[in-house]
Amino acid sequence: MDKIIIRGGRKLSGTVPVSGAKNAALTLLPCALLTEEPLTLRNLPRLADIDSFQHLLNQFGISTSIAGARPEDFGRVMTLQATRLTSTVAPYDLVRKMRASILVLGPMLARAGEATVSLPGGCAIGNRPIDLHLKALEAFGARIELAAGYVRAHAPDGGLPGGHYTFPVVSVGATENAVMAAVLANGTSTLHNAAREPEIVDLCNLLVAMGAEIEGIGSSHLTIHGVSRLHGATYMVMPDRIEAGSYACAAAITGGDVLLAGARIEDMTATVQALTDAGIHVEQTRGGLHVAANGAIRPVTLSTAPYPGFATDMQAQLMAMLCMAKGSSVLTETIFENRYMHVPELNRMGARIETKGRTAIVHGVDHLVGADVMATDLRASMSLIIAGLAAEGETSVHRVYHLDRGYERLEEKLALIGADVERVGND
Ligand code: UD1
Repeated sequence: MDKIIIRGGRKLSGTVPVSGAKNAALTLLPCALLTEEPLTLRNLPRLADIDSFQHLLNQFGISTSIAGARPEDFGRVMTLQATRLTSTVAPYDLVRKMRASILVLGPMLARAGEATVSLPGGCAIGNRPIDLHLKALEAFGARIELAAGYVRAHAPDGGLPGGHYTFPVVSVGATENAVMAAVLANGTSTLHNAAREPEIVDLCNLLVAMGAEIEGIGSSHLTIHGVSRLHGATYMVMPDRIEAGSYACAAAITGGDVLLAGARIEDMTATVQALTDAGIHVEQTRGGLHVAANGAIRPVTLSTAPYPGFATDMQAQLMAMLCMAKGSSVLTETIFENRYMHVPELNRMGARIETKGRTAIVHGVDHLVGADVMATDLRASMSLIIAGLAAEGETSVHRVYHLDRGYERLEEKLALIGADVERVGND
């Protein structure tokens, strides 16, 4: 297993290209199930999670081809075609590797009238049930059975009728599954208290480009008029707002000045607000988001929340940055329990963070020191990289495969903006 070694203390400056959004890509890819015609996705990030999803789709008989990208390019173009499905089963071995595999359930059910998907099981950031995915599909007319670790979903003969569902809790994945199931239903479906993350807007925009009829895009009330068939499309994956926010925190903690090329400020207003509250200069320019340190980092108090609130996926990275603030910050995690696994690792680097239940108090320190640290999940790993960039001496981040799931060519991008970083094998 590889590790990443960072020799901290360099100010980051220059331009870093923002990749296509992982979480958008993971819900755009299963849309290939909804049509026999080719779906071409541009700006797909090169990530382990995307490779795993491609593998999962191949196993249903979907053909995939990659065109155009030279090794030195970021992103790539993939064409997927589900002329005929050879399987409707997502097996344990593939689903276990990547929880987002559950996103094939809705579109597979819509296309084939049945779908069998392994239950994803627990995951490092807490207990992550899929009950809301199943309830929404049941509300649209699916029959669901749970047996031997698998979810089996069936539509009535003639397809899903569609229906109405109000989410008791906002769920990104359950909203995505429900929307993908409803687009081919026989009737009209409504979703209330739906998630409205930019990635869901991206999903709806692709579905509309494929011929779907969706009202209320970007709001928490979606009305989906089922159509009898969808056609192919060519679509550009949105920029990754979490990757952009991560590099913004990295630049800020080093006292740096970077341009996040391609980032869209409108997708990341809560992150921009948090950075601004911390005294960081953030400005949208024609080329992307310009982020520059501006004196000392100020402490911040905030809670994570569904969009448009502050994203749970940015909590660890912001916390790493706030380790060097002048004063104490208070962060509250409201979306996932057990999402503070980076805290003991950051403390090993000299941070002073206390946690009490869902709240973390981050007492700013004037320096961090390099250490050997263990990555536990994707965003936690990035928080250790951010701390390492500002720490004195050398930081080795072990279990780099977490980062490869979600940060396209991390070391290359960091090197582009002046970080002293290298990947070494045989951890
Ligand atoms: C997605 C993102 C993940 C992000 C999260 C919250 C992808 C691939 N992943 O995950 O990076 O951290 O949104 O922004 O896009 N819940 C239930 N029952 C369900 C589903 C969810 O109780 O059936 C709960 C979860 O335990 C959690 C909350 O709802 O407390 C939100 O989870 P959800 O929005 O569903 O997260 P994911 O879609 O899994």
